[in-house]
Amino acid sequence: MPCPERHVIILGSTGSIGTQTIDIIERLNQRGYAFSVVGLAAGKNVERLAEQIKRYHPYAVCIGKETEGEILRQRFPKVRVFTGEKGLRELARLDEVDLIVNALVGAIGLPPTLDGLSLGRTVALANKESLVVGGELVTKFLSEYGGAILPIDSEHNAIFQCLRAGRLSEVRRVILTASGGPFLRVHKEELDRVRPEEALCHPNWAMGSRVTIDSATMVNKGFEVIEAHFLFHLPYERISIIIHPDSVIHSFVEYHDGSLLAELASPDMRIPIQYALTYPKRVETGLPRLDLEKISRMEFETLDHEHFPAFATVLKAAKQGGTSPAVINAADEVLVERFLEGGIPFTGIASGLQTILSRWESAEANLKEISSDAGNQDEVILSTLLAADRWARKAARYLSF
Ligand SMILES: NC(=O)c1ccc[n+]([C@@H]2O[C@H](COP(=O)([O-])OP(=O)(O)OC[C@H]3O[C@@H](n4cnc5c(N)ncnc54)[C@H](OP(=O)(O)O)[C@@H]3O)[C@@H](O)[C@H]2O)c1
Repeated sequence: MPCPERHVIILGSTGSIGTQTIDIIERLNQRGYAFSVVGLAAGKNVERLAEQIKRYHPYAVCIGKETEGEILRQRFPKVRVFTGEKGLRELARLDEVDLIVNALVGAIGLPPTLDGLSLGRTVALANKESLVVGGELVTKFLSEYGGAILPIDSEHNAIFQCLRAGRLSEVRRVILTASGGPFLRVHKEELDRVRPEEALCHPNWAMGSRVTIDSATMVNKGFEVIEAHFLFHLPYERISIIIHPDSVIHSFVEYHDGSLLAELASPDMRIPIQYALTYPKRVETGLPRLDLEKISRMEFETLDHEHFPAFATVLKAAKQGGTSPAVINAADEVLVERFLEGGIPFTGIASGLQTILSRWESAEANLKEISSDAGNQDEVILSTLLAADRWARKAARYLSF
């Protein structure tokens, strides 16, 4: 029987996950699937977006700035062109969409996730910031509107797969693996002097720049703990971390009977992306396979909190809940940018996050008053989170070292 046509929107189509999603869609369509790309969204890369429009003929797109939107309207008069953050939300609410792949980077990914879920849609989620910034709202929308999230992040995708073997009530804990990034073996005293190009060299994964730096500081692992907390409804005490430099095991689920289930695969994000697109089926599309005979051994070690102090700060914000994770995320986004521009040392990211989180404790009360008059309850919460995000960006931009 031929596969039914599935209308897909890819938010962040020009990035690392976005382009790999397109690769998978092409592979699946060659094997009888019928994915039709009806919407695409990018930030700045107007040329790559234009190439994608020519190849996939979406009926709507979104680009960051109005000036670039105008260029696209002139070049593609039949395509609806939205712009900016509002445009992302309009795209997520287009009619007749079966699946939204959210591959945006940053807090900007949260509103379109909520818009998609509010229409009961399925969101294949790479944008971890949706859950880091707005995990409580996302959970609420999932239970109220009946949509679904299929996790793309490799650790959560692994857990999602391992959970098919048992019930959530049978789970003792989940264990997220962490490669340790490029500085696992670098002496703590040398971290002050590492350069952006060294931090951008992840040993196992080729990813966008922010998530690569976040992997080097271990902020990313903190975000993934938050992601797991909301996706799998587990308290923070039942989410553990283990350093696994080989990146062969993508995570574990430990059940009450002592069984530990793991998902192993080549470190290739197309595998979890494909799983999300074909779920609950599994399909051969010629992706690289893991050759167990070439893996002579696998290593595991405990996370060294002194070496990676940012992890504890993210976890502190996670446990505080409310707006604190939004503050940490926004501050991190800016501090990573400042590090990449050569403006602050690598260790400034961790120390900056600590400072900003403690300043937030006294600033928060004022912010609540600012945002208490915005529409319905969910919009009030969203605007409060976004106001916290703006506060943290400003604080991080002007933080002196
Ligand atoms: N890459 C990985 O292997 C990987 C693995 C696990 C999880 N993730 C998560 O997946 C998400 C995406 O990561 P990535 O590595 O694919 O990032 P990336 O390569 O930097 O791509 C980000 C995408 O978002 C778009 N974008 C950025 N700002 C935007 C804005 N203001 N408006 C509209 N679009 C905007 C970018 O457009 P332009 O490029 O056109 O500006 C690009 O298409 C992140 O949350 C990351 O943590 C990634």
